[in-house]
Amino acid sequence: MLRSVILAASRSSRVERVVATAPFSRDVVRRFVPGTTTDDALRATRELAAGGLAVTLDYLGEDTVIPEQAVEIRDAYLELLTALSAANLAAGADVSVKLSALGQKFDEQLAYEHARSICVAASEAGTTLTLDMEDHTTTDSTLDILTKLRTDFPNTGAVLQAYLRRTEADCRELATAGSRVRLCKGAYSEPESVAYQSALEVDKSYVRCMNILMSGEGYPMLATHDPRLITIGADRARWFDRAPEEFEFQMLYGVRPDEHARLAGEGYTVRVYVPYGGQWYGYLMRRLAERPANVAFFARALTSR
Ligand code: FDA
Repeated sequence: MLRSVILAASRSSRVERVVATAPFSRDVVRRFVPGTTTDDALRATRELAAGGLAVTLDYLGEDTVIPEQAVEIRDAYLELLTALSAANLAAGADVSVKLSALGQKFDEQLAYEHARSICVAASEAGTTLTLDMEDHTTTDSTLDILTKLRTDFPNTGAVLQAYLRRTEADCRELATAGSRVRLCKGAYSEPESVAYQSALEVDKSYVRCMNILMSGEGYPMLATHDPRLITIGADRARWFDRAPEEFEFQMLYGVRPDEHARLAGEGYTVRVYVPYGGQWYGYLMRRLAERPANVAFFARALTSR
């Protein structure tokens, strides 16, 4: 219930104005978003690399409604990739891109072309691009654009969401050689017709999808903070004989950092999803919706002023 309310608020521009301008927001945001500029992204990349962690960098933005905004987001990625390369931080890094930020909602071809430009720059810098997955109305379009991008950039990755009923089938399609798939639970509010509603059903689907990816020929990226799923992931790696460089765990910046370090210390590849930029509202609200304790953290920041 609380989750649905917060996720509904994540799409309200009225609530966004109140939250974004509130003086307490900065402290709360800082826990999940290391900064707003390319330099902030580089600093976070350096700090995480020093701890043996890889990154995927996300320039925050979504649901772009005008072409100029889409160009601005594309250019931010191009600037980031040039800077990563110049700072010798590109090797092993990845960028995560939301197609709705590149114009997918009003012009799919435009979003494809912008994503392609970012793939070109990523390839020149020696990094990869992964397409984030948004609400279920965009899944087909995102997977179509993935197929087109993979023609020239076969290492382009995609996210699949275990809460969607279709995802087992999508995992089967994508568990092929060279394919990079990030498996997550899913962060949007989705109707029962397309998505499992209970945590148990989502977890069971996650395990079924993980089995398909870990036994397949692609490169699975297990994106979860859930201790049980992490244990099952490590178990499947042993069962399917996957070495640490043949799959990875992924977690969000600021969420269970001790676990990032523990897994990296055990020799696993761990990649941290690092969002940066000024458009943090939708991202923050999804993090609050995931965990009631985060709402309490937010409320404490509010009442301590
Ligand atoms: P779950 O929510 O059950 O959490 C398990 C435990 O992890 C909690 O008990 C708590 O300890 C900790 N935890 C989880 N979330 C927390 C938070 N916000 N704050 C503090 N502690 C928290 N979704 C999507 O729809 N499209 C996408 O493209 C992506 N991309 C993506 C990339 C990466 C690298 C990650 C890790 C996640 C995503 N997600 C996503 C988000 C994902 O769908 C999901 O909402 C979150 O990862 C939370 O689910 P968990 O699997 O962590 O389990």
